[in-house]
Amino acid sequence: MVTGAGGYIGTTLIPKLLEKGFNVTAVDRYFFGEELLPPHPNLAIVRDDTRRLPQNIFEGVDAVIDLVAISNDPSGELFGDVTYEINRDSRIRTAHLAKANGVQRYILPSSCSIYGFLEDSVIADENSPTNPLTTYAKANLQAEQGVLPLASEEFVVVVLRQSTVYGYSPRMRFDLAINGMTHGAWFTRKLPLMRDGNQWRPMVHVSDTADAQLLMLTADPNLINGEIFNVGSKENNYRLKDLAEKVASVVGKDVVQEWYGDPDHRSYRVNFDKIEKLGFNAKFTAENGAQEILQRLEDGTLQMHDKTITLNWYKNLVEWQKIIQKTEMYDGMLNI
Ligand SMILES: NC(=O)c1ccc[n+]([C@@H]2O[C@H](COP(=O)([O-])OP(=O)(O)OC[C@H]3O[C@@H](n4cnc5c(N)ncnc54)[C@H](O)[C@@H]3O)[C@@H](O)[C@H]2O)c1
Repeated sequence: MVTGAGGYIGTTLIPKLLEKGFNVTAVDRYFFGEELLPPHPNLAIVRDDTRRLPQNIFEGVDAVIDLVAISNDPSGELFGDVTYEINRDSRIRTAHLAKANGVQRYILPSSCSIYGFLEDSVIADENSPTNPLTTYAKANLQAEQGVLPLASEEFVVVVLRQSTVYGYSPRMRFDLAINGMTHGAWFTRKLPLMRDGNQWRPMVHVSDTADAQLLMLTADPNLINGEIFNVGSKENNYRLKDLAEKVASVVGKDVVQEWYGDPDHRSYRVNFDKIEKLGFNAKFTAENGAQEILQRLEDGTLQMHDKTITLNWYKNLVEWQKIIQKTEMYDGMLNI
Protein backbone atom coordinates (compact mmCIF):
# COMPACT_ATOMS: atom_id res chain seq x y z
CA MET A 1 0.00 0.00 0.00
CA VAL A 2 1.22 3.44 -0.92
CA THR A 3 -0.51 6.48 0.59
CA GLY A 4 -0.17 9.87 -1.10
CA ALA A 5 0.07 7.68 -4.19
CA GLY A 6 -1.10 10.39 -6.59
CA GLY A 7 1.64 12.81 -5.54
CA TYR A 8 4.99 13.87 -6.97
CA ILE A 9 6.91 10.93 -5.51
CA GLY A 10 3.99 8.45 -5.61
CA THR A 11 3.39 8.80 -9.34
CA THR A 12 7.08 8.02 -9.98
CA LEU A 13 7.30 5.24 -7.38
CA ILE A 14 4.19 3.28 -8.37
CA PRO A 15 5.20 2.47 -11.96
CA LYS A 16 8.52 1.21 -10.55
CA LEU A 17 6.72 -1.01 -8.00
CA LEU A 18 4.44 -2.42 -10.71
CA GLU A 19 7.40 -3.08 -12.97
CA LYS A 20 9.04 -5.07 -10.16
CA GLY A 21 5.90 -7.21 -9.89
CA PHE A 22 4.35 -5.81 -6.71
CA ASN A 23 0.58 -5.57 -6.32
CA VAL A 24 -0.12 -1.99 -5.28
CA THR A 25 -3.02 -0.41 -3.40
CA ALA A 26 -2.75 3.30 -4.17
CA VAL A 27 -4.49 5.40 -1.52
CA ASP A 28 -5.01 9.12 -2.04
CA ARG A 29 -7.63 11.86 -2.12
CA TYR A 30 -6.22 12.49 -5.63
CA PHE A 31 -6.22 16.24 -5.15
CA PHE A 32 -3.97 16.43 -8.24
CA GLY A 33 -5.95 13.96 -10.36
CA GLU A 34 -6.37 10.19 -10.50
CA GLU A 35 -5.43 10.00 -14.19
CA LEU A 36 -1.75 10.50 -13.32
CA LEU A 37 -1.56 6.80 -12.43
CA PRO A 38 -2.12 4.77 -15.62
CA PRO A 39 -4.36 1.69 -15.16
CA HIS A 40 -2.54 -1.59 -14.54
CA PRO A 41 -3.91 -5.04 -13.66
CA ASN A 42 -1.92 -5.08 -10.40
CA LEU A 43 -2.91 -1.57 -9.33
CA ALA A 44 -5.94 -0.89 -7.10
CA ILE A 45 -6.91 2.76 -6.82
CA VAL A 46 -8.52 3.69 -3.49
CA ARG A 47 -9.83 7.20 -3.09
CA ASP A 48 -9.92 7.90 0.63
CA ASP A 49 -8.64 10.27 3.27
CA THR A 50 -5.79 8.78 5.28
CA ARG A 51 -7.26 10.29 8.44
CA ARG A 52 -10.21 7.90 8.13
CA LEU A 53 -8.74 4.67 6.72
CA PRO A 54 -10.79 1.62 7.72
CA GLN A 55 -9.13 -1.45 9.31
CA ASN A 56 -10.06 -3.75 6.43
CA ILE A 57 -7.96 -1.79 3.95
CA PHE A 58 -4.88 -3.48 5.46
CA GLU A 59 -6.11 -7.01 4.66
CA GLY A 60 -3.49 -8.78 2.55
CA VAL A 61 -1.10 -5.81 2.70
CA ASP A 62 2.56 -6.75 3.37
CA ALA A 63 4.09 -3.28 3.45
CA VAL A 64 3.04 0.36 3.68
CA ILE A 65 4.90 3.31 2.17
CA ASP A 66 3.22 6.26 3.89
CA LEU A 67 3.92 9.18 1.55
CA VAL A 68 0.78 11.16 2.38
CA ALA A 69 1.34 14.78 3.40
CA ILE A 70 0.61 18.42 2.98
CA SER A 71 3.97 18.54 1.39
CA ASN A 72 5.70 21.88 1.65
CA ASP A 73 6.51 24.67 4.09
CA PRO A 74 4.16 27.41 2.84
CA SER A 75 1.19 25.01 2.71
CA GLY A 76 2.14 23.74 6.17
CA GLU A 77 2.05 27.29 7.55
CA LEU A 78 -1.30 28.11 5.90
CA PHE A 79 -2.97 24.83 6.85
CA GLY A 80 -1.20 24.26 10.18
CA ASP A 81 -3.71 22.10 12.06
CA VAL A 82 -4.43 20.04 8.96
CA THR A 83 -0.70 19.47 8.43
CA TYR A 84 -0.38 17.99 11.92
CA GLU A 85 -3.51 15.88 11.35
CA ILE A 86 -2.31 14.44 8.04
CA ASN A 87 1.49 14.42 8.25
CA ARG A 88 1.75 13.35 11.88
CA ASP A 89 -1.51 11.95 13.28
CA SER A 90 -2.76 10.05 10.21
CA ARG A 91 0.64 8.46 9.67
CA ILE A 92 0.98 7.38 13.31
CA ARG A 93 -2.57 5.98 13.13
CA THR A 94 -1.80 4.17 9.86
CA ALA A 95 1.33 2.62 11.38
CA HIS A 96 -0.68 1.38 14.41
CA LEU A 97 -3.46 -0.02 12.20
CA ALA A 98 -0.91 -1.64 9.91
CA LYS A 99 0.81 -3.37 12.83
CA ALA A 100 -2.48 -4.49 14.39
CA ASN A 101 -3.58 -5.97 11.04
CA GLY A 102 -0.51 -8.06 10.32
CA VAL A 103 1.40 -5.78 7.93
CA GLN A 104 5.11 -6.64 8.17
CA ARG A 105 6.83 -3.45 7.07
CA TYR A 106 6.14 0.27 7.42
CA ILE A 107 8.21 2.95 5.65
CA LEU A 108 7.88 6.60 6.67
CA PRO A 109 9.17 9.05 4.06
CA SER A 110 10.28 12.00 6.19
CA SER A 111 12.49 14.96 5.31
CA CYS A 112 16.02 16.27 5.89
CA SER A 113 14.39 19.64 6.62
CA ILE A 114 14.10 18.48 10.23
CA TYR A 115 17.82 19.36 10.61
CA GLY A 116 16.79 23.01 10.20
CA PHE A 117 19.76 25.29 10.58
CA LEU A 118 23.29 23.96 10.98
CA GLU A 119 26.58 25.81 11.18
CA ASP A 120 28.59 25.56 7.95
CA SER A 121 31.14 23.23 9.55
CA VAL A 122 28.49 20.67 10.57
CA ILE A 123 27.38 17.82 8.35
CA ALA A 124 24.32 16.10 9.80
CA ASP A 125 24.11 12.35 10.11
CA GLU A 126 21.15 10.43 11.47
CA ASN A 127 22.34 10.93 15.07
CA SER A 128 22.74 14.69 14.82
CA PRO A 129 20.41 16.89 16.85
CA THR A 130 17.32 17.96 14.98
CA ASN A 131 16.06 21.53 14.75
CA PRO A 132 12.79 21.65 12.81
CA LEU A 133 11.90 25.25 12.00
CA THR A 134 8.55 24.96 10.23
CA THR A 135 5.20 23.29 10.87
CA TYR A 136 5.95 20.87 8.03
CA ALA A 137 9.31 19.88 9.52
CA LYS A 138 7.95 19.64 13.07
CA ALA A 139 5.08 17.40 11.93
CA ASN A 140 7.56 15.12 10.15
CA LEU A 141 9.81 14.82 13.20
CA GLN A 142 6.84 14.09 15.46
CA ALA A 143 5.62 11.46 12.98
CA GLU A 144 9.05 9.80 13.17
CA GLN A 145 8.88 9.84 16.96
CA GLY A 146 5.40 8.34 16.84
CA VAL A 147 6.14 5.43 14.49
CA LEU A 148 9.67 4.32 15.44
CA PRO A 149 8.68 2.85 18.84
CA LEU A 150 6.32 0.45 16.99
CA ALA A 151 9.29 -1.46 15.54
CA SER A 152 9.29 -5.09 16.68
CA GLU A 153 10.39 -8.49 15.40
CA GLU A 154 7.15 -8.84 13.41
CA PHE A 155 6.85 -5.19 12.33
CA VAL A 156 9.75 -3.51 10.56
CA VAL A 157 9.68 0.29 10.79
CA VAL A 158 12.09 2.47 8.85
CA VAL A 159 12.32 6.25 8.44
CA LEU A 160 13.72 7.86 5.29
CA ARG A 161 14.81 11.47 5.68
CA GLN A 162 14.66 12.60 2.07
CA SER A 163 16.61 15.50 0.65
CA THR A 164 14.68 18.10 -1.35
CA VAL A 165 13.48 16.23 -4.39
CA TYR A 166 13.86 17.31 -8.03
CA GLY A 167 13.19 16.10 -11.54
CA TYR A 168 10.21 15.34 -13.72
CA SER A 169 7.22 13.45 -12.35
CA PRO A 170 3.67 13.04 -13.71
CA ARG A 171 2.39 15.10 -10.74
CA MET A 172 4.85 17.87 -11.45
CA ARG A 173 5.92 20.26 -8.69
CA PHE A 174 7.51 23.56 -9.67
CA ASP A 175 7.49 24.61 -6.01
CA LEU A 176 10.69 22.59 -5.50
CA ALA A 177 14.04 24.36 -5.81
CA ILE A 178 15.64 22.86 -8.92
CA ASN A 179 12.33 22.51 -10.77
CA GLY A 180 11.32 26.11 -10.07
CA MET A 181 14.77 27.46 -10.94
CA THR A 182 14.72 25.62 -14.26
CA HIS A 183 11.29 26.94 -15.17
CA GLY A 184 12.12 30.53 -14.18
CA ALA A 185 15.42 30.54 -16.09
CA TRP A 186 13.75 29.11 -19.19
CA PHE A 187 10.51 31.09 -19.16
CA THR A 188 11.54 34.56 -17.98
CA ARG A 189 15.34 34.29 -17.88
CA LYS A 190 15.00 35.16 -14.22
CA LEU A 191 16.08 32.38 -11.95
CA PRO A 192 14.29 32.48 -8.58
CA LEU A 193 16.79 32.16 -5.74
CA MET A 194 15.73 32.08 -2.12
CA ARG A 195 18.06 34.71 -0.86
CA ASP A 196 20.88 34.97 -0.45
CA GLY A 197 21.75 31.55 -1.72
CA ASN A 198 24.44 30.82 0.86
CA GLN A 199 22.23 28.15 2.43
CA TRP A 200 23.25 24.52 2.06
CA ARG A 201 20.57 22.14 0.89
CA PRO A 202 20.81 18.45 -0.05
CA MET A 203 18.92 17.37 -3.17
CA VAL A 204 17.79 14.00 -4.54
CA HIS A 205 16.21 13.05 -7.85
CA VAL A 206 12.63 11.76 -7.66
CA SER A 207 13.64 8.50 -9.34
CA ASP A 208 16.49 8.02 -6.85
CA THR A 209 14.29 8.62 -3.81
CA ALA A 210 11.74 6.15 -5.21
CA ASP A 211 14.60 3.64 -5.53
CA ALA A 212 15.49 4.22 -1.87
CA GLN A 213 11.93 3.25 -0.94
CA LEU A 214 12.13 0.15 -3.13
CA LEU A 215 15.39 -0.78 -1.42
CA MET A 216 13.70 -0.60 2.00
CA LEU A 217 10.95 -2.99 0.88
CA THR A 218 13.40 -5.83 0.45
CA ALA A 219 16.36 -4.87 2.68
CA ASP A 220 17.33 -7.27 5.48
CA PRO A 221 15.17 -6.33 8.51
CA ASN A 222 18.20 -6.71 10.79
CA LEU A 223 19.87 -3.82 8.97
CA ILE A 224 16.95 -1.39 8.83
CA ASN A 225 14.41 -2.08 11.57
CA GLY A 226 13.90 0.91 13.86
CA GLU A 227 16.48 2.87 11.87
CA ILE A 228 16.58 6.29 10.23
CA PHE A 229 18.32 6.83 6.88
CA ASN A 230 19.13 10.11 5.17
CA VAL A 231 18.35 9.82 1.45
CA GLY A 232 20.61 11.63 -1.00
CA SER A 233 24.28 11.75 -1.90
CA LYS A 234 27.39 13.73 -1.01
CA GLU A 235 27.59 15.14 -4.55
CA ASN A 236 24.04 16.47 -4.26
CA ASN A 237 24.74 18.73 -1.24
CA TYR A 238 24.63 22.22 -2.75
CA ARG A 239 24.76 25.84 -1.71
CA LEU A 240 21.67 27.26 -3.37
CA LYS A 241 23.68 29.91 -5.23
CA ASP A 242 25.96 27.22 -6.72
CA LEU A 243 22.91 25.22 -7.64
CA ALA A 244 21.48 28.29 -9.35
CA GLU A 245 24.63 28.58 -11.46
CA LYS A 246 24.44 24.93 -12.48
CA VAL A 247 20.80 25.28 -13.51
CA ALA A 248 21.54 28.51 -15.39
CA SER A 249 24.35 26.81 -17.30
CA VAL A 250 21.99 24.01 -18.35
CA VAL A 251 19.35 26.46 -19.55
CA GLY A 252 22.13 28.35 -21.28
CA LYS A 253 20.47 31.71 -21.85
CA ASP A 254 21.42 35.06 -20.30
CA VAL A 255 19.89 34.20 -16.98
CA VAL A 256 19.78 36.60 -14.06
CA GLN A 257 19.24 35.55 -10.49
CA GLU A 258 16.26 37.07 -8.75
CA TRP A 259 16.15 36.88 -4.96
CA TYR A 260 12.82 36.24 -3.34
CA GLY A 261 11.40 35.69 0.13
CA ASP A 262 12.67 36.49 3.57
CA PRO A 263 16.14 35.38 4.50
CA ASP A 264 15.99 31.60 4.55
CA HIS A 265 16.86 30.25 7.98
CA ARG A 266 17.15 26.65 6.85
CA SER A 267 20.63 25.52 5.97
CA TYR A 268 21.84 21.98 6.31
CA ARG A 269 24.51 19.76 4.86
CA VAL A 270 23.85 16.07 5.22
CA ASN A 271 25.85 12.85 5.38
CA PHE A 272 24.56 9.85 3.41
CA ASP A 273 27.10 7.15 4.37
CA LYS A 274 24.53 5.03 6.19
CA ILE A 275 22.20 4.47 3.22
CA GLU A 276 25.15 4.08 0.85
CA LYS A 277 26.47 1.24 3.05
CA LEU A 278 23.11 -0.44 2.49
CA GLY A 279 23.71 -0.33 -1.27
CA PHE A 280 21.96 2.91 -2.25
CA ASN A 281 23.65 5.06 -4.86
CA ALA A 282 22.01 8.16 -6.30
CA LYS A 283 22.27 8.09 -10.08
CA PHE A 284 21.26 11.67 -10.91
CA THR A 285 22.71 15.16 -10.45
CA ALA A 286 21.06 18.59 -10.43
CA GLU A 287 22.17 19.12 -14.03
CA ASN A 288 20.41 15.90 -15.11
CA GLY A 289 17.22 17.06 -13.41
CA ALA A 290 17.33 20.53 -14.95
CA GLN A 291 18.08 19.00 -18.37
CA GLU A 292 15.09 16.63 -18.36
CA ILE A 293 12.72 19.39 -17.24
CA LEU A 294 14.12 21.79 -19.83
CA GLN A 295 13.60 19.22 -22.57
CA ARG A 296 9.93 18.77 -21.64
CA LEU A 297 9.36 22.52 -21.36
CA GLU A 298 10.86 22.96 -24.81
CA ASP A 299 8.91 20.14 -26.47
CA GLY A 300 5.68 21.32 -24.83
CA THR A 301 4.97 18.16 -22.78
CA LEU A 302 5.26 20.11 -19.52
CA GLN A 303 3.79 23.44 -18.46
CA MET A 304 3.62 25.39 -15.23
CA HIS A 305 0.09 26.03 -13.94
CA ASP A 306 -1.58 26.22 -10.55
CA LYS A 307 -1.74 22.44 -10.17
CA THR A 308 2.06 22.32 -10.26
CA ILE A 309 2.37 24.77 -7.34
CA THR A 310 1.21 22.90 -4.25
CA LEU A 311 0.14 25.93 -2.21
CA ASN A 312 -1.79 27.55 -5.09
CA TRP A 313 -3.66 24.35 -5.83
CA TYR A 314 -4.75 23.77 -2.23
CA LYS A 315 -5.81 27.43 -1.95
CA ASN A 316 -7.85 27.06 -5.16
CA LEU A 317 -9.56 23.89 -3.92
CA VAL A 318 -10.57 25.59 -0.66
CA GLU A 319 -11.86 28.65 -2.52
CA TRP A 320 -13.77 26.62 -5.13
CA GLN A 321 -15.34 24.50 -2.41
CA LYS A 322 -16.78 27.66 -0.82
CA ILE A 323 -18.16 28.87 -4.16
CA ILE A 324 -19.65 25.48 -5.02
CA GLN A 325 -21.26 25.12 -1.60
CA LYS A 326 -22.92 28.51 -2.02
CA THR A 327 -24.14 28.02 -5.58
CA GLU A 328 -24.95 24.31 -5.93
CA MET A 329 -28.66 23.48 -5.85
CA TYR A 330 -30.63 20.25 -6.36
CA ASP A 331 -27.32 18.28 -6.68
CA GLY A 332 -26.18 20.37 -9.62
CA MET A 333 -24.76 23.60 -10.88
CA LEU A 334 -26.23 24.25 -14.38
CA ASN A 335 -27.70 20.82 -14.97
CA ILE A 336 -30.15 19.97 -12.20
N1 LIG B 1 9.13 16.44 -2.62
C1 LIG B 1 10.11 16.68 -1.75
O1 LIG B 1 11.04 17.48 -1.99
C2 LIG B 1 10.14 15.96 -0.45
C3 LIG B 1 11.29 16.06 0.33
C4 LIG B 1 11.34 15.42 1.55
C5 LIG B 1 10.22 14.70 1.97
N2 LIG B 1 9.11 14.61 1.19
C6 LIG B 1 7.97 13.85 1.68
O2 LIG B 1 7.56 12.88 0.72
C7 LIG B 1 6.14 12.72 0.79
C8 LIG B 1 5.53 12.92 -0.58
O3 LIG B 1 5.84 14.20 -1.09
P1 LIG B 1 5.38 14.65 -2.53
O4 LIG B 1 6.38 15.63 -3.00
O5 LIG B 1 5.06 13.46 -3.34
O6 LIG B 1 4.02 15.47 -2.16
P2 LIG B 1 2.69 15.68 -3.02
O7 LIG B 1 2.00 16.89 -2.48
O8 LIG B 1 2.98 15.66 -4.47
O9 LIG B 1 1.82 14.39 -2.68
C9 LIG B 1 1.06 14.23 -1.53
C10 LIG B 1 -0.19 13.45 -1.91
O10 LIG B 1 -0.98 13.27 -0.73
C11 LIG B 1 -2.35 13.42 -1.07
N3 LIG B 1 -3.07 13.79 0.15
C12 LIG B 1 -2.91 14.90 0.90
N4 LIG B 1 -3.69 14.84 1.98
C13 LIG B 1 -4.35 13.67 1.92
C14 LIG B 1 -5.28 13.01 2.79
N5 LIG B 1 -5.68 13.55 3.93
N6 LIG B 1 -5.73 11.77 2.43
C15 LIG B 1 -5.33 11.19 1.28
N7 LIG B 1 -4.46 11.77 0.42
C16 LIG B 1 -3.98 12.99 0.75
C17 LIG B 1 -2.39 14.48 -2.15
O11 LIG B 1 -3.54 14.34 -2.96
C18 LIG B 1 -1.09 14.16 -2.92
O12 LIG B 1 -1.34 13.33 -4.02
C19 LIG B 1 5.64 13.71 1.82
O13 LIG B 1 5.51 13.04 3.04
C20 LIG B 1 6.73 14.72 1.90
O14 LIG B 1 6.77 15.32 3.15
C21 LIG B 1 9.05 15.21 -0.01
